[in-house]
Amino acid sequence: MPLVTSKEMFEKAYNGGYAIGAFNVNNMEIVQGITEAAAELQAPLILQVSKGARAYANHTYLMKLVEAAVIETGLPICLHLDHGDSFETCKSCIDGGFTSVMIDASSKPFEENIAITRQVVEYAHDRGIVVEAELGTLAGIEDDVKVNAEDSSYTHPEEVEEFVSRTGCDSLAIAIGTSHGAYKFKPGTKPQLRFDVLEEVSKRLPGFPIVLHGSSSVPQEFVEKINKYGGNMPGAIGVPEDQLRKAASMSVCKINIDSDLRLAMTATIREFFVEHPEKFDPREYLKPARAAIKAMVAHKIVDVLGCDHKI
Ligand code: G3H
Ligand code: 13P
Ligand code: ZN
Repeated sequence: MPLVTSKEMFEKAYNGGYAIGAFNVNNMEIVQGITEAAAELQAPLILQVSKGARAYANHTYLMKLVEAAVIETGLPICLHLDHGDSFETCKSCIDGGFTSVMIDASSKPFEENIAITRQVVEYAHDRGIVVEAELGTLAGIEDDVKVNAEDSSYTHPEEVEEFVSRTGCDSLAIAIGTSHGAYKFKPGTKPQLRFDVLEEVSKRLPGFPIVLHGSSSVPQEFVEKINKYGGNMPGAIGVPEDQLRKAASMSVCKINIDSDLRLAMTATIREFFVEHPEKFDPREYLKPARAAIKAMVAHKIVDVLGCDHKI
């Protein structure tokens, strides 16, 4: 099966009350860990590549790794550009074989966001590729750009109909209180997503797939392991998984997860080096790291996204 777009995945997810996991990939072990879990659970899958991932691993290497995963697993996989920052980046990924792109002009004024998103949509749709856009600004760090919590803003539901009809985008990322990275909420506060905003957006866009970025849950067992084995991550707090499950049962069809994979991988490698200070073969520490990613993704698919056995 060739790479697919997310169109059919989202239609089924919307109607079935579940969401598709969009996991960030940067190297072979990450691709393998994610796709092995999805294959065992027969889960549709989005693999996403950021600008930073392309700079780190190279577009062609990532493309070929994902193509290898399609051959090995037979899964319907959508290959998506995460946080495309310009028409040129989106064009380069579309020309280079991706089946979905995000144009993230959410930091720009409304009219400018519409204009650049429309330009990407026209280019993409002419080639059978789908486009995710964003309204509202998430706090956190994306591609080295740090957005402070004070500068983030929830999506204004009254803007979404005009934005979607004028841009023609295929899915919309909204800001309802999630943020990128491992430090999402202040220690001592109770994390709470704005389901009122999500409900209002969904009412205005019936049947339209909504996307949640910044949806790692930052499992404390991994934070504790990192800290136990020489790390220092006090106050790392994520989005409660029951709230993500609720969002997945509503109009949210795509949930983005990256930081949790990084935590699983890093905690496992830190533990390995402390437990085996004499070892230096990368295969020996990357193997358990890959297994930790696989276990994390399996847990997300079954307990958070609800997309197992949906192929
Ligand atoms: O939204 C950000 C993703 O986690 C990708 O992060 O830009 O460091 O690759 P990155
Ligand atoms: P996390 O940092 O919460 O994993 O979010 C990832 C993301 O939104 C990628 O676009
Ligand atoms: Zn994101």
